[in-house]
Amino acid sequence: MKAAAVYPDKKSLGVVRDFPEPELKSPSQVKLRILNVGVCGTDREIASFLYGAAPEGYEYLVIGHESVGEIVEAGPESGLKPGDVVIPMVRRPCTHPECVACRAGRSDFCYTGDYRERGIMKMHGFMTERIVDEARYMNLVPPAIRDVAVLVEPLTIAEKALIETVKIQSRLPWEKKHKAVVLGAGPVGLLGAMALALRNFDVTVYSRDREPNPSADITRAIGGKYISSQDRTVEQMASDVGSIDLVYEATGASQLAFDVLKYLGPNGLFILTGVPGRHGPIQFEADTVMRNLVLKNQCVLGTVNAGKDAFEHAVADLSSAHSKWPIAVKSLITGRFPLDDFANPIHNQTGIKNVVEIAH
Ligand code: BGC
Ligand code: ZN
Repeated sequence: MKAAAVYPDKKSLGVVRDFPEPELKSPSQVKLRILNVGVCGTDREIASFLYGAAPEGYEYLVIGHESVGEIVEAGPESGLKPGDVVIPMVRRPCTHPECVACRAGRSDFCYTGDYRERGIMKMHGFMTERIVDEARYMNLVPPAIRDVAVLVEPLTIAEKALIETVKIQSRLPWEKKHKAVVLGAGPVGLLGAMALALRNFDVTVYSRDREPNPSADITRAIGGKYISSQDRTVEQMASDVGSIDLVYEATGASQLAFDVLKYLGPNGLFILTGVPGRHGPIQFEADTVMRNLVLKNQCVLGTVNAGKDAFEHAVADLSSAHSKWPIAVKSLITGRFPLDDFANPIHNQTGIKNVVEIAH
């Protein structure tokens, strides 16, 4: 069986051809044949040897964490059956008894940092033909969205953020038409824009490229506005939008994020999802930002990974988005590559979401 791997010590990528096919080890497990695996910035970091780690005893890490698979074998206690299409979760809990988050099934809030992540941290991932895992990490998807279901995992980032948004903003009267600004028009930004549009936010996507471009077309198709940072400065964009209730940052560019934070509106929430590289120090108007945070009751939130609730919301929202805007949702996937060519979409960052297609 084949698997796509990163060799941290050899600083190379390769397809492992004799990767052993996994077998069920308990009645609560399932075996999947993997259909699609998405490629994202995290995979690029791992393939640049800046992030991630191989499992103990291995010189390589099988990558891939954004996936969709079909059950081929289901343990009698799994609650699933062959033919079911599922999205596996990425993170597995740490083993420290004192980690109340992992013990409560919320490893996305792990305190110790000793969690593992499939395809990222000390556990082989999903860019291979077959995987075995516990059924409790599987999320069933309706057959209607099978072709785009690989977008569920990157959508969970927005879904977790929105679950928290509802909780955080329950601190105040918030029943009004909200204005959201999404920073970045990559897959995370556009999926976030969709999730916000489904919740009736007035959405503006602020990104580098000028129109016409495919991300701007998708933004418009879902009823959003698109503004290029080459045409409008942050200040101009903020005055175009008016009072901003929510910013969903999806670029990992710290300068941009802190520049936009200055224009967050009263009672606003600023959500950071991007992971910047460690570049040098940046300058921003810290006094203004701090004054605003206090005098305008603002909140800044960072978020990573996702729990079961976010996966469930992502499946439901992707289904709604797919029936509301079928072309826009399909056009998020811009490239499909065979497993043998997995390094291509990692090294050549073109289009929106590139997918390694392992089976149909
Ligand atoms: C994945 C998350 C993961 C994070 C950090 C992201 O690309 O979507 O599941 O927690 O990387 O490793
Ligand atoms: Zn990812």
